[in-house]
Amino acid sequence: MDFDKLDKLKGFMPKHEGAALLKWAQEFSLLGPALEIGTFGGKSSLYLACGTSKNNQLVFTIDHHQGSEEHQADEEYFDPTIFDKKLNRVNTIPLMQSNLNKFKESKWIIPIIADSNKIASVWTIPLGLLFIDGSHTEVSAKSDYDNWKSKILKDGALVIHDIYENPNEGGQAPHLIYKQALLEGFSLHEKIDTTVCLIKN
Ligand SMILES: C[S@@+](CC[C@H](N)C(=O)[O-])C[C@H]1O[C@@H](n2cnc3c(N)ncnc32)[C@H](O)[C@@H]1O
Repeated sequence: MDFDKLDKLKGFMPKHEGAALLKWAQEFSLLGPALEIGTFGGKSSLYLACGTSKNNQLVFTIDHHQGSEEHQADEEYFDPTIFDKKLNRVNTIPLMQSNLNKFKESKWIIPIIADSNKIASVWTIPLGLLFIDGSHTEVSAKSDYDNWKSKILKDGALVIHDIYENPNEGGQAPHLIYKQALLEGFSLHEKIDTTVCLIKN
């Protein structure tokens, strides 16, 4: 994997947190495949795949590809290059396809174009690692956690992105589900910057 090339992709996964994702994906895919909520352009999916491929395991990655609240027109992370004028909405499928096509590790990635809640209701494959990086509203983050926590195998990992202890630094929804997971018997394995890895006991 060419990590400098990967770091240049459009996305929301800095190199040091991506390296942590890779390490945890390798560690916990010994138990089962990884699943990500929030593909965007596939940047974090590629870090995960780099880790799971060492154990011949897949990364499933879910996104409706219509962007989160902050990606919409006039919001903080709006990007005109991912706005499809014909559809009159954000569409990150072309970005994901172009990014994944640049790396051979993408053969381990299975994109699922759908709402995470819909897939949860039919999902039966036990997971070695679940990575939550979808919508950061309180309702969405909580439903991702509530809908998916039971799919993680015992001793498997729950990874959550964008944890900010201080509300002035960032939204609190990921932090809320992190605290809930600790109360519900997950234990902290490691924290790298804003990304936590918990273990299901
Ligand atoms: C912060 S971005 C993910 C960033 C990505 N992990 C990366 O490394 O670049 C969040 C993504 O979650 C997706 N999303 C938001 N709500 C969703 C839902 N309910 N189901 C599926 N995807 C959702 C958005 O479309 C958006 O692409």
